[in-house]
Amino acid sequence: MAYSLKINGKMQSVDVDGDTPLLWVLRDVLGMTGTKFGCGIAQCGACTVHVDGMATRSCITPVESLKGSAITTIEAVGATAAGARVQKAWLDREVVQCGYCQSGQIMSAAALLAANPKPSDSDIDDAMAGNICRCGTYGRIREAIKQAAQSPSKGG
Ligand code: FES
Ligand code: FES
Repeated sequence: MAYSLKINGKMQSVDVDGDTPLLWVLRDVLGMTGTKFGCGIAQCGACTVHVDGMATRSCITPVESLKGSAITTIEAVGATAAGARVQKAWLDREVVQCGYCQSGQIMSAAALLAANPKPSDSDIDDAMAGNICRCGTYGRIREAIKQAAQSPSKGG
């Protein structure tokens, strides 16, 4: 069945079963491989995208649930104010190690700052708790989020 999805501001038509997870559509149908597959069961955060601004695990989100929603992926989050601040802080703090988890980490961090521009430590912990990093970059992630929260904001 054909589904129209709004991804990074552009309408995309995909012909898949309605229960196909968004992650599969992004990676295998549309060739957008920035969003990663980790566990497939909402336990690692590698597949995180934004759905109407909310950090969302695309591995368990069926396309049929996304009618009328605006989806943002790692490929375009840098065009948002919060996403741009997060990406700059990630580079400044040299957060990345192997990199595999980092798309999801950045998407969760950007959603946090868009909703809560000045998060407390516990806000950060709560927002990032579902994003696993095998390389243990958690300390740098937290510092980068704090830097991004302190950098000049143009809103959102
Ligand atoms: S791949 Fe979706 S949470 Fe792990
Ligand atoms: S940077 Fe390697 S898993 Fe996070």
